[in-house]
Amino acid sequence: MKCMDFKLYLDITTERLVLCKLNTNDSDLIFALRSSKDVTKYIARPLYKDKKEAIFNVNKTIKSINNSEVIVWTIRSKNSLIPTGTICLWNFSDDRKTAEVGYEMLPEFQNKGFMNEALKSVVSFGFNELKLNTIEAFTSKHNNGSIRLLEKNHFMLQKDRKDEDFLDNIIFTLASNKKKPLYKRMVLQLIGMPIRTIKRDCLLE
Ligand SMILES: CC(C)(COP(=O)(O)OP(=O)(O)OC[C@H]1O[C@@H](n2cnc3c(N)ncnc32)[C@H](O)[C@@H]1OP(=O)(O)O)[C@@H](O)C(=O)NCCC(=O)NCCS
Repeated sequence: MKCMDFKLYLDITTERLVLCKLNTNDSDLIFALRSSKDVTKYIARPLYKDKKEAIFNVNKTIKSINNSEVIVWTIRSKNSLIPTGTICLWNFSDDRKTAEVGYEMLPEFQNKGFMNEALKSVVSFGFNELKLNTIEAFTSKHNNGSIRLLEKNHFMLQKDRKDEDFLDNIIFTLASNKKKPLYKRMVLQLIGMPIRTIKRDCLLE
C-alpha cells in the first residue's frame, strides 16, 4: 500500500501555533514533559530523572519518524516559537487506516485552548493527508482534561472496548466521514441521521 513518507511532512500552522516535526534540539522539551509529575499524573510511565533519557527518546523517535512509523510534532507558540507540548499520531494499523493520537502540554500552557487547536489540525491532517479512516485515543478515565478535549472534538467513547494493558484507560474513536459522498450525506440528513454527525462532516472539511 502506498503511504506517506513521514520524513517529508511539513509543519502545520494554526491560528496561534505552529506544529513542527520533532528534531534533535527538542530534548529539553521532552525532558520537561517527561519529568513533570503534573503532566504524567494519568500516564503510566516512569518519570525521567536524567536529561540523557530524553535525548535517547528523541533519537529513537526520530528513527521511527524516518521509518514512517510515528509522526511527532512539537507544539510552539506561533509568535515566540516557545515549545509548549507535543502531539503525535502513532500505533498505525497494518493497513494504515487507523492511528492513535497522543498529546501532552506543559502545565504553564494548559487550559489556554492550545491542545484543542493542535488536535483539530492533527485530526484534519490525519483524515485529509494520511487518508485515515479512524483516529483513536486511549486516556485514563480520571483524566478529565483529556476526556473533555476528546469529547469537544467529537471523539466517541467506545464503551465495549477495554485496554487490557491499562485497565484505568477508556478508549475514544473519531471516524472520518470523507468516504461518504455529499449526495449520500444529504440523503442521510433527509432520513434523519443524527445532526451531530452532519456537523462533524462540516468541521472536517
Ligand atoms: C489533557 C491536556 C492535553 C489538555 O490540554 P489543554 O491545552 O489544557 O487543553 P485545552 O486548553 O485545549 O482545553 C480543552 C478543553 O478541556 C478542558 N480542560 C482542560 N483541562 C481540564 C481539566 N483539568 N479538567 C476539566 N476540563 C479541562 C478545557 O476547559 C477545554 O474545554 P472547554 O473549551 O469546554 O472549556 C493537558 O491537560 C495535558 O497535557 N495533560 C497532561 C498530559 C496528559 O494527560 N495527556 C493525555 C494523555 S492521554
